Amino acid sequence: MGSNEFESLWLFAIASKCKSFTYINSITFAFLLLLAWLCMNLIFWAHPGGPAWGKYKWRKLTGTKPIPGPNGIPIIGSMKLMMGLAHHKLAAMAEFCKAKRLMAFSLGETRVIVTCNPDVAKEILNSSTFADRPTKESAYNLMFNRAIGFATYGVYWRSLRRISAAHLFCPKQIKASEFQRSEIANQLVAMFRAEKGEIWARDALKRASLSNMMCSVFGKNYKLDSYNYETNELQKLVDEGYDLLGTTNWSDHLPCLSDFDIQKIRLRCFNLVPKVNQFVGRIIEEHKAESGELGRDFVDVLLSLQGPDRLSESDMIAVLWEMIFRGTDTVAVLIEWILARLMLRPDIQSKVHSELDKVVGSSRAVTETDLVELVYLAAVIKEVLRLHPPGPLLSWARLAITDSVIDGYRVPAGTTAMVNMLAPFGSGRRSCPGKTLALTTVTFWIASLLHEFEFEPCGQVDLSEVLRLSCEMANPLMVRVRSK
Ligand code: HEM
Repeated sequence: MGSNEFESLWLFAIASKCKSFTYINSITFAFLLLLAWLCMNLIFWAHPGGPAWGKYKWRKLTGTKPIPGPNGIPIIGSMKLMMGLAHHKLAAMAEFCKAKRLMAFSLGETRVIVTCNPDVAKEILNSSTFADRPTKESAYNLMFNRAIGFATYGVYWRSLRRISAAHLFCPKQIKASEFQRSEIANQLVAMFRAEKGEIWARDALKRASLSNMMCSVFGKNYKLDSYNYETNELQKLVDEGYDLLGTTNWSDHLPCLSDFDIQKIRLRCFNLVPKVNQFVGRIIEEHKAESGELGRDFVDVLLSLQGPDRLSESDMIAVLWEMIFRGTDTVAVLIEWILARLMLRPDIQSKVHSELDKVVGSSRAVTETDLVELVYLAAVIKEVLRLHPPGPLLSWARLAITDSVIDGYRVPAGTTAMVNMLAPFGSGRRSCPGKTLALTTVTFWIASLLHEFEFEPCGQVDLSEVLRLSCEMANPLMVRVRSK
């Protein structure tokens, strides 16, 4: 072997040693990084309320009194609390942590507070701090950020609330649509009467409330008992939207997952939106073609807006779609709960019958002017709302736009707040604008049905719940009616 060859062999040996040294070094470095990352996450997780609260504390180095709450699991926090009947799980956890007034928890990187106490609930809902809604990818993808429910608190949201208050939800407008609700009530009664045996209450009620909203918003009148392509199509769109908006989307809370769309929520939203655009867009075009007859329904109202209030076509679609969406299931879900409770308590049902006999009698149908005198029925509805609020505020969370102090604890801007108790229509500036319309519709239709029938269960009434966007009966109610 020559000296040159020997030299190169020697150099090769050193180089490979260096290489393995660098290789080992980078493995050690990566390992140390991983260890540091794990340690950091354990430190974040150990903070009361879990990782999102820990992260905030360490970033801001705040020394304030922590809000009590569960740690959950490192990195994902208490995501498990949001699975299934989240309102019950949260109440049980608050009891366990002795944090019923105010509990902190983490949903991945989202800091959340929740209260089960009426005073603290009032403090949150009525404060000017919690005036926004948390970012929800599905809400954005389904255009709800351009409608009232998920619009950012500001000029646009305020003008939408003003327009809808003046043209859809004001007492004058609700009075003006009495005839339409009464027509639908008659058709609902006829549907129940025609069904000699058993009837799925939810199907009939959903059809009725969708038909009611289609009439108020689009000016479309359809018979409940006949097949109609448009109503069926719209019901499918609403059902899909409900499912998407009611699903807890992991990537809303764990941004590292957002590229993967593991629950296929983004994909389903992208499939749904063109159908909504096409459906509502066609109705807007029909209204434009019928110019000269303005002022009949909500589409006409939006088309007639001028100046700064004027909406672009895509914003108009978002606003109209939201109204249909919100007004349909909530009303049907509540009536189904009321019927279930009345069937379980025949003594209370017969008191409602007696009240109807006294106030309305048997010679005429119920009218909306009778409603003020139906005080017992109103109390029954209130109690059912307490027991089964259709939206137990989980899907209606609020977002803090500034730092604030709630119940003596410092709550930073960007925190999501939930109220887990009786507040069926919310409260404060973002409370439900459809409350009066919804209560009038529910009370009037229930009164009309009970004026005509006695409701009997078919088998066991199962009060199990399922929480989607609304809290519904897990097993749809089957009823049998007997004419009075
Ligand atoms: C039984 C029926 C209903 C219930 C239980 C209900 C419940 C609620 C709740 C809890 C909120 C959130 C309030 C808050 O954050 O403080 C809300 C908001 C809203 N509701 Fe209703 N609702 C019902 C019917 C309706 C109807 C019929 C409409 C319209 C046609 C409607 C339109 C809205 C809108 C647009 C919002 C968003 C308000 C905003 O963010 O400014 N709701 N509703």
